[in-house]
This record gives sequence, structure tokens and C-alpha cells, in this order.
Amino acid sequence: MKVLSIVGARPQFIKAFAVSRELRKSHEEILVHTGQHYDEELSDVFFEELGIPEPDYNLGVGSSSHGTQTAAMLEGIEGLIETEAPDVVLLYGDTNSTLAGAIAAAKVDPIVAHVEAGLRSHNREMPEEINRVLTDHASDLLFAPSDSAAETLAEEGITEGVHVTGDVMYDAILWARDVAKEESDVLTQLGVEEGEFFLSTVHRASNTDERDRLEAILDGLSAAPRDVVLPVHPRTEDRLKSYDLWHRATSELEVIDPVGYLDFVRLLDGAERVVTDSGGVQKEAFYLDTPCVTLRDETEWKETVTSGWNKLVGVSAPEIVKFLNKSWSPGRKGDPYGSGDASVKIAKILADYNE
Ligand code: UD1
Ligand code: UDP
Repeated sequence: MKVLSIVGARPQFIKAFAVSRELRKSHEEILVHTGQHYDEELSDVFFEELGIPEPDYNLGVGSSSHGTQTAAMLEGIEGLIETEAPDVVLLYGDTNSTLAGAIAAAKVDPIVAHVEAGLRSHNREMPEEINRVLTDHASDLLFAPSDSAAETLAEEGITEGVHVTGDVMYDAILWARDVAKEESDVLTQLGVEEGEFFLSTVHRASNTDERDRLEAILDGLSAAPRDVVLPVHPRTEDRLKSYDLWHRATSELEVIDPVGYLDFVRLLDGAERVVTDSGGVQKEAFYLDTPCVTLRDETEWKETVTSGWNKLVGVSAPEIVKFLNKSWSPGRKGDPYGSGDASVKIAKILADYNE
């Protein structure tokens, strides 16, 4: 099969890394980078350290409003589908790059395949929720990371083409955990001890784009009983500066530039706890046995919560402080997101399709 894979944002490089390794054993892959993320530390670093093949095309769309950004990607991807005539267009996750790929491919010949199908936060205020729902409903092949994701698709009337493969980020982290322990010296560089610091990431638009919410998160993190390492997303840095909170953040927290995947996995593995609004980080914490405090009221990765490893705390400063000071005993996890072979399954399903 000739597969046109679409990536554009940080978490998609990590997902594509896992899948690409398997895909290229039996398929021809054309890799398209939309250019949604373009800073060295949000893009190039992942290609370099994970050995992801150089993208065949970079659409260079950059940052803009949702409509402008998605439209530029849509136009570029449509042209590439025409030029490359792929059998499959492979989409990852829930970003604007995912949605643009889905719209471009669904109206023409290729099979549309979605990795991370069936996830729902049920919060339509999140742009990602709109992207997920629309992408699933435009897809022919839906790779669900869990049984519950497949059930959600069935509730929405989607039963054909659904395969429960497990989570490709689990594949990635099984590889990265040991490599990171061996190769990353980020803990030494930052002067933090294993198990004696908290890690935090904040970038969700709903948390960064309102001053009161971002300030409440800062109030909560600043009152943590441990040092807090915050690799800061450019969106968050920009807002902290414009709200005049940057000086406070950098003096009360260990604010650092975004780090590469191996350093991040090392930090997450070594942290006593993580405080985040990221989707990917919630489940990576679950895989690495690091308790997670989530700065949101709902999550699409619900098994992390029902197993007791993840607490949905929202952004009230007193609640954040309470959960940063409180220990709790997580429960048994099981394997809700598969066994680390999602990429092998995806490559095989594609090979068997239409045979
Ligand atoms: C995007 C995704 C989000 C995902 C996140 C991963 C959408 C709607 N959002 O959010 O689902 O969780 O990526 O990190 O697709 N910027 C830079 N340099 C860059 C990229 C962005 O400075 O390389 C800044 C720009 O000011 C930009 C802002 O970050 O306006 C937001 O970037 P954007 O890609 O629109 O959204 P993210 O918040 O990164
Ligand atoms: N990540 C990273 N460096 C960082 C922060 C995050 O490599 O400084 C990785 C992290 O391991 C996870 C992914 O980026 O795999 C999560 O991306 P993000 O939180 O930006 O997006 P989301 O998962 O919320 O869509």
C-alpha cells in the first residue's frame, strides 16, 4: 500500500515515530509535515532524536486562526493527494492537521485511516473534540486505542472499519523508557533528584487564553511542596508574558524550554507527580506509574481516572494545592490501552485491507 501520513504537531511526531517503524517494513510511506509546529524544540528535535525519516513534504503553514490554518493545510494536502495518488491517508490524533487531512481525503479516492479513533472528552468547547468527532465520521478505518473508544464509536453509529489496536504512544514509551534512563542526563542538568520533584505542562487553549485560569494554575503550582519543573509551551510563554505573569513564573517555578522526547520521558519517569492539561502526558504518566493531577474537568483517557492514577482537578488553586499535597493509592491498572504492539497491528490491518 502507498500510505500518505499527515503530521504537524509535537504529539503526532511521537505517534508517527512508533507507526512509521512498522509501516515501512511492508508499505511505501510518504510523510507530510503540515508545518503547524515549526520551532526547533517542537519539531526538528523529534525527527532528529527519534530517527523519523525526513518529511517528503513540508507545507509550512505556521500559526494562524483555526480557519486560516486548517484551510491552508487542506489546500496543500488536497494537492498532494492528487500528485501522489496514495491508497491510504493516515491521520493521527485530534489537531487541526488531523482534521485538514480528513476533509481533504474523505472526498476523494484514498482510504481514510485514523489513529486514536473514538476518544471523546464530550466537551465541544475544545477544538480538539470537534477535530476528533469530524475525523472519525470521515474515516474508513478507525484504529481505537481501547475497547471503550470502540464502544463510543458504536454509540455514534460507527461499527464498520473499527479495530481495537491499543495505543501507539504505549509502543513509543516502551522503547523510550529504558533509552531515556541510559541517555538522558536532564535530571542532573536541572539539579533535581529522582522522585523529589514535580513535573508540569500547560498548553490547552482553555487554560492559557484566560488570565484568571492561568494565574490560578500558577498559584497552585507555586504552592507545591516540591520544586516544579515546567517545560513551557510557546503558547503558554506568550500568554504568561502578555498577562505580566512571566517574571513570577520564572522566579517561583523551574521554567525551561520545551525538551525532546527522551528528556521528557526521563523527567516524567523521575517525577514524584505530574501536573498537566496534556492528553498525551496523562497516559504516558499512567504507563510510567507516575500519579497525575490533570488541570481539566474531563478527559478522553478515562481509564487513567477510573484506575485511580489520574485525578481531574480543574483549575481552582485550592484544589490544585490540595492534590499536590495529598498522597493517594492508585488502583490496579490492567491493560486498557493494549500491550505495546498497536503499530504492528495497524501495519498488518492496512496490509490485509481489501485483499
Ligand atoms: C496544538 C493542537 C493541540 C495539541 C498541541 C500539541 C490544535 C487545534 N491544537 O496546540 O491539540 O495538544 O498542538 O502541542 O491543533 N507556536 C510557536 N511555535 C510553534 C508552534 C506554535 O511559537 O512551533 C505558538 C504560536 O504562537 C501559536 C501558538 O503557539 O499561535 C499555538 O500553536 P497551535 O499549533 O495553533 O496550537 P497549540 O496550542 O500548539
Ligand atoms: N513532550 C515532549 N517535550 C515537552 C513536553 C511534552 O517531548 O517539553 C511530549 C510528551 O512526551 C508527549 C507529547 O509531547 O508525548 C505531548 O504533547 P502535548 O502535550 O504538546 O500535546 P497533547 O498530547 O496534549 O495533544
